[in-house]
Amino acid sequence: MRILSGIQPSGNLHLGNYFGAIAQFLKRQNSGDELFIFIADWHALTTIHNAENLKQKTFEIATAYLAFGLDPEKTTLYRQSDIPEIMELAWILACQTPLGLLERAHSFKDKKEKGLEANAGLFTYPILMAADILALNAEIVPIGKDQKQHLEIARDLAQKFNHVYGETLFPPEPEIPENVATVPGTDGQKMSKSYGNTIDIFAEEKTLKKQVMGIVTDSTPKGSPLNPDKCNVFALFKLMTNEAEIKDLAEKYKTGAVGYGDAKKILLEKILNFFGPARQKFTELQNNPDEIKTILESGGKKARAEAQKTLTIVRKKIGLIH
Ligand code: ADP
Ligand code: TRP
Repeated sequence: MRILSGIQPSGNLHLGNYFGAIAQFLKRQNSGDELFIFIADWHALTTIHNAENLKQKTFEIATAYLAFGLDPEKTTLYRQSDIPEIMELAWILACQTPLGLLERAHSFKDKKEKGLEANAGLFTYPILMAADILALNAEIVPIGKDQKQHLEIARDLAQKFNHVYGETLFPPEPEIPENVATVPGTDGQKMSKSYGNTIDIFAEEKTLKKQVMGIVTDSTPKGSPLNPDKCNVFALFKLMTNEAEIKDLAEKYKTGAVGYGDAKKILLEKILNFFGPARQKFTELQNNPDEIKTILESGGKKARAEAQKTLTIVRKKIGLIH
C-alpha cells in the first residue's frame, strides 16, 4: 500500500498532531507499507509571512518526524516545495474545480468566521492538498478527522479528472483513527495551532507546565466528586496510558480523591514520560542540521521522480504534449 500524509510547518507540534496523525504514520511504517511523509511548506505560506519563521518551523517538523521514529531508510521524508510538479498539478486541477466545492470547505469557513486572514491561498488550499496526494498516487492518507472533507475533495477532483480524460488519477481513501479522532485543546475546542490552545510536545518543561495547568475545567472544588467523561485533562490522559491506569484515575475522580489541580500534575508527568525519549532525540538532532538537510534532499529526489511520472501522463491526457 502507498501511504502519504503531511503536516504544515505553521506552528509547534502538539498532542493533536501526534495522536491524530504521527502515531498513525509510525504504525504504518512498522507494518511495512510504502510511506511518503512530507512537510507542507507551501500550505504554511497561507498563514506564515516571515522567512525566518517558515525556515525554522520547517526544520522543526523534519526534526520531529525523525525524533518520533520515522526512519528515512523506510519512509520517504521530503519538503513539498521540492516538487514543482505538485504545483503544476494543482493548477490543472484548479481549472476543473467548481467554486462551490471550495466555498463549502469547513476549514476555510471556520478560519474566516474566527476572523483569521482569508487569502486566496487559503481558499484554494484543498486543491493543493489534492495535488500533493494525487501526484504521488497515494492510496491511503492517514489524517485527523478535521481533514476528512479535504480528502473528499481530493477524491472528487480525481474522479472529475478521470471522468473527463479517462482513468488517470487514483481516488485516495482517508484513514482516521476513531478513538482519537479529535484531540481537545486546553480550552475544550479542537486542539489547533490556529486557536492558541495547544500543548506543545517539544516545548520547554516550564512552558509545557503552563499549558497543562491552563487547561480549562469547571469550578468544582477539590474533595467533591468529578466526572471524568466531562474533563479535558482526563481525555488527554487517556491517550497516553493503559486501561488499568484509566480505571484507577476515573475512580479517583468519582470519589473526589483528586482535584483538577492534582489531575493536571498527573497529566504533566504522563506527557513528560510518554514523550521523554522523543524530546531527548529532538534536542540531539537539533544540533545536526546538515544531516536533516541531506535526508530531505534525498527524500525530495525520490518523491519528485514519482510526481514526474504522474505529470508526464497527465500532460499528455490534457493536451499539453502533442
Ligand atoms: P493544526 O490544526 O494545529 O494547524 P494541522 O492542520 O497542521 O494542525 O494538522 C496536521 C495533522 O494533525 C492533520 O492530520 C490533522 O488532522 C491532525 N490534527 C491536528 N489537530 C488535531 C486534533 N486536535 N485532533 C486530531 N488530529 C489533529
Ligand atoms: N492540510 C493538512 C493539515 O493541515 C496538511 C496537508 C497538506 C496534508 N497536504 C496534505 C495532509 C496531503 C495529508 C495529505 O493537516
